[in-house]
Amino acid sequence: MTPTEKLAPGAPPSADFVPLIVPEIRGNEWKYIKDCLDTNWVSSVGSYVERFERMVAERVGVRHAIATVNGTAALHIALMLAGVEPNDEVIVSSLTFIAPVNAIRYVGAWPVFIDAESRFWQMNPAAVVEFLDNQCRRDGNTLRNKKTGRRVKAILPVHILGHPVDLDPILAAAFKYSLPVIEDATEGLGAQYRGRNIGGLGLAGCFSFNGNKLITTGGGGMLVTDSPDLADRARYLTTQAKDDPIEYVHNALGYNYRLTNVLAAMGCAQMEKLDEFIDIKRQIAKTYDEKLRSIPGIALPEEAEWAFSTFWMYTVLIDEQKCGLSSRELLRGLGAKKIQTRPLWQPIHRSPAHAESSNRECPTADALHQQALSLPCSVGLSRSAQLQVIEAIENLVGERNASR
Ligand SMILES: Cc1ncc(COP(=O)(O)O)c(C=O)c1O
Repeated sequence: MTPTEKLAPGAPPSADFVPLIVPEIRGNEWKYIKDCLDTNWVSSVGSYVERFERMVAERVGVRHAIATVNGTAALHIALMLAGVEPNDEVIVSSLTFIAPVNAIRYVGAWPVFIDAESRFWQMNPAAVVEFLDNQCRRDGNTLRNKKTGRRVKAILPVHILGHPVDLDPILAAAFKYSLPVIEDATEGLGAQYRGRNIGGLGLAGCFSFNGNKLITTGGGGMLVTDSPDLADRARYLTTQAKDDPIEYVHNALGYNYRLTNVLAAMGCAQMEKLDEFIDIKRQIAKTYDEKLRSIPGIALPEEAEWAFSTFWMYTVLIDEQKCGLSSRELLRGLGAKKIQTRPLWQPIHRSPAHAESSNRECPTADALHQQALSLPCSVGLSRSAQLQVIEAIENLVGERNASR
């Protein structure tokens, strides 16, 4: 099977196919889910929901966690908690999966795209500070974008690929301008910034448990916060804003965003494995680092000295001149050898879905988009499969260079 071929649902992939990233289910998932089925507690109320929330809150080091149907829903609610309103602006990373930017639009606000920094590929804190200091003006208690006149209402840094954003300068700027910070930590459960768990460093943090994340519930998310008031509000908004459960009175517009007990049960089992999974991911990254280091034109992902990365995704940069082939040529070459790889997302300032918002240039994100390629890095990746990937890369680069 090549990465472009589609499997019928339930069909096993061919034995020698190496997928980019697949779930690892080998703990108490069956047992806990069976318990839900046996006891009839399958819906959005149940002990596993509360247990999953407690496990994530404790792990992140915050007081409250609210389980949601997915990470996008958590982001949507977090923006509402931050008081973001229609026609406001939210400062957000351009180099990200599209979900946080979509969530900004769900509340009727507009993204202000911030470029990535070139070393760790995260939101560039200097660009955030530059925008706030030079391109905004104070208008009473309100901060306005000088160009658009719109109110700037929040900062949404996205920690990508399991590595944290350099948050302190962003938190300092947020403090200076009284802006709430919502962390999109969907790809970063278990990662740390200067010894502190990401997701718990702003007003609210959001996680995702979709199928490719470090731990998965198939689909699911979590909103975390230290504020009891915000946590109450998040619970209210994610359960249809029900004010009277007998008479069904709703005083606000709510959402059906709560995770089910069945999926939370899976989440509990997966959380039990989180540290083990992180160790394995870091070992996979170390092996790639050791073996790929000597190949010309391949730049390895770096871990900042202030960071603890989970290496959720293992992504390299391909320098076409030095390597002899582009990231997309390597993708196709590996695909022909049944090895699935993937570029990073189209930076969102380029996305046709957000064409109306594309107000800023992000050249580093553009360059990273051209060069980046994520390699197979499932927790269950066997040593032999990983060596197969490495050998395939060595051969493809070697063949190309021999013919130059
Ligand atoms: C950076 C980022 N933000 C948000 C999301 C949205 O999470 P979900 O797919 O659970 O809605 C994802 C994952 O898909 C993501 O990678």
